[in-house]
Amino acid sequence: MTEAILLVGGKGTRLRPLTVHTPKPMVPAAGVPFLTHQLARARAAGVEHIVLATSYLAEVFEPYFGDGSALGLHLEYVTEEEPLGTGGAIRNVASRLHSGPDDPVLIFNGDILTGLDIRALVDTHETTGADVSLHLTKVTDPRAYGLVPTDDTGRVLAFLEKPQTPEEIVTDQINAGAYVFRRSVIDSIPLGRPVSVERETFPGLLSAGAHLQGMVDSTYWLDLGTPAAFVRGSADLVLGRAPSPAVPGRCGDRLVLPTARVASDAKLAGGTVVGEGAFVAEGARIFGSTILPGAVITDSLIGTRARVGRRSVLTGTVIGDGAVIGPDNELLEGARIWCDARIPAGAVRFSSDQ
Ligand code: GTP
Repeated sequence: MTEAILLVGGKGTRLRPLTVHTPKPMVPAAGVPFLTHQLARARAAGVEHIVLATSYLAEVFEPYFGDGSALGLHLEYVTEEEPLGTGGAIRNVASRLHSGPDDPVLIFNGDILTGLDIRALVDTHETTGADVSLHLTKVTDPRAYGLVPTDDTGRVLAFLEKPQTPEEIVTDQINAGAYVFRRSVIDSIPLGRPVSVERETFPGLLSAGAHLQGMVDSTYWLDLGTPAAFVRGSADLVLGRAPSPAVPGRCGDRLVLPTARVASDAKLAGGTVVGEGAFVAEGARIFGSTILPGAVITDSLIGTRARVGRRSVLTGTVIGDGAVIGPDNELLEGARIWCDARIPAGAVRFSSDQ
């Protein structure tokens, strides 16, 4: 049986959710909580048992995903009292694994959307006999990432901190956030204290002579570090650029969820998602954006990678690219929302108080 650990905890700004009560993995992407795509992709690759390592608003996962049987999985949840870092979180769930000491265990960062060939990563791990195998992706601007140079055979040479100067950019390969660990390597991580895999575990393994294998897979890869990245990821799931068996409908220009309505003259393109109960009425033009459940859009133009929150009503507005309209807003004739602007929940209203 192949099993996996999914890292969905931690602290810091990268993990700040879009709304106060929604942890990032539960923010919808293509109509379902983002985590659903990762779980379904793992299942499709033959994974049967997944342990969710959580620390942040952990209580929302289990009520939604339960024992995982709806996805054909056996899911378990482990909550850290204090965030233990990526390595600490992996070690903290080791007792839930059934794998033997030499078996491969998959590990996924919970904030990455990717078309990685998961089986190919496991195969690479098994054929090379590595201790840890990592998915590497090539990026055009590596300055924001730690770099992972490899030799001709893909063996990892070093883990380098974010480059500060052009000379330090020795490769365009970065850690893409999916690994296969030999089970015994997980057991060797110190228990009960914060550990970072990138800063401690991987460099420590390298200096001890362990075999770390990189597998460059230049498939779709997106770091969901920002709200705009979430909407982009959602659109790419709808368009079929990011493959997921969990998209609830056919891939195409738009995804209109059950009970949502779209007027015949409304134009939806670029992977726009219309959530349950939302109404896109006459004169709406929406390009690659997400309309959350219950929102009503009329005679409005919405750019790319924008989000319109639950129950918000937009009539005669223009919403710039990347803008986030929180839930329960009412924007009327002539409102222009600047690109990337954020309107908090319930901040603007024209109708009388209820
Ligand atoms: P460290 O390697 O521990 O320093 O973490 P990082 O800050 O480099 O990790 P990053 O923020 O890139 O997060 C990678 C993934 O690990 C994300 O899916 C996070 O949700 C998850 N994660 C980060 N820190 C923790 C943690 O303390 N506990 C758990 N359970 N998950 C974490």
